[in-house]
Order: sequence, then C-alpha cells, then structure tokens
Amino acid sequence: MDITYYGHSCFGITINEKNILFDPFISPNELAKNINAETVKADYILISHGHEDHIADAVSIAKRTKATVICNWEISVWLQNQGVENLHPMNIGGKKLFDFGSVKCVNAVHSSSLPDGSYAGNPMGFVVETNDKNFYYAGDTALTYDMKLIGDYRKIDFAFLPIGDNFTMGVDNAIIASQFIHCSDVIGMHYDTFEFIKIDKPEAINKFNRQGKKLTLLEIGETITK
Ligand code: NI
Ligand code: MN
Repeated sequence: MDITYYGHSCFGITINEKNILFDPFISPNELAKNINAETVKADYILISHGHEDHIADAVSIAKRTKATVICNWEISVWLQNQGVENLHPMNIGGKKLFDFGSVKCVNAVHSSSLPDGSYAGNPMGFVVETNDKNFYYAGDTALTYDMKLIGDYRKIDFAFLPIGDNFTMGVDNAIIASQFIHCSDVIGMHYDTFEFIKIDKPEAINKFNRQGKKLTLLEIGETITK
C-alpha cells in the first residue's frame, strides 16, 4: 500500500486500488501550501474527531469526490447537513468490512467538537485490517491503557501516532504506546503544524531508535510504500 503525507494528521493511503483519506486538513495548513486539496483523491474519508485541524477540507473533498465518509454518528449528521451525501456512521467498538478492508473504531482520549461548536460525539482511532497489512491510526489521543487491547487484538504492522505533545501524547508517550500495541514501525503525525506542537525531529527519531523502534517523519507530499 502507498502512503502519502498531506501534513498534520492527514494521510492518503491506497489500499486495494481504493484511496483512503484520513483527517483532511490541507488548505488552512501553512506547511501544506504545496498540496492542492482540490486534486486529492478519495474513495473513502475517515475522520477521527470533529476538530478543525482534522476536518477542514472534509466537506469540499467529499462533495467533489463523492467519497464515503466514515466517522462517528454525530459528525455524520453534521456532514449530512453540510450537503455530504455518502456517509457511513460508526462508533467506538464497532467494526465494519469495506471493499478495501475492515475498520474497527477504537478509543481515543481527547475531546471533540465541530468547527461551528456543534457536538461531535467522542473522538476515536481506527484499526484497519487489509489482506496485505494491518495498521492503527490513533487520531488525537493521550497514551491510554486501552491501547493494550489493540496490541492483544491484532498484529499491527505499522501505526500512525501523534507525537507533538501539548494537545496529544508526545514522543515519550508514543514510544510507550508503540509498546502497548506491539508495533515497532511508527509514522509520526500531529507535530510542527502549530507553535504549541513544534518538536525536535532528529531527537524524536533518536528516542525511538534507542528503544529499538523506528519513527518515520514524512515530508509533506512524500509517498512511501508499505
Ligand atoms: Ni483534536
Ligand atoms: Mn488535532
């Protein structure tokens, strides 16, 4: 599968020829000004929670691509009111099989509201299983013992973890999270976008290395293959 980084916590992943877009926040992101949100592909859009820095481009991309948006019930109602047509509401603990693989919604310890102040339900992360690899997209979350359930549940080949601290867990807690989920291959997200979450990238990578783990920090626009 190919993984393209669009900045902050936004990734496009191609699985079984379907384009899965996570937490679209591109056009307001200064660091992602070379990415054109109007050309980003999506067959599915997965949204972890309602905060602006995870949903800013969701309505426009969903309308243009007719992608199916997978999110919690409250966010799906809000998106429907914005004119988004294809929605698949889920909630924490639920799993569903799609044509690219299955999605299980898991706990995230954070908050959630929509840009206009609407109630957005609870934040969540996703465990995605495919016939190739399995991965965990944590969304915005603190370190939580619930992550041990994920490690017990499935083999996680790689994981997207927030590392920017301040609003979510930082590097040190992300290393513990990677232990909880039994996964040594981590792609960092939710760092550097704002002043509050600027990190020392070489130091973050070194900290993971010292624990025998790999932290990948993609350039915005970069694509890697897993
Ligand atoms: Ni958030
Ligand atoms: Mn966030």
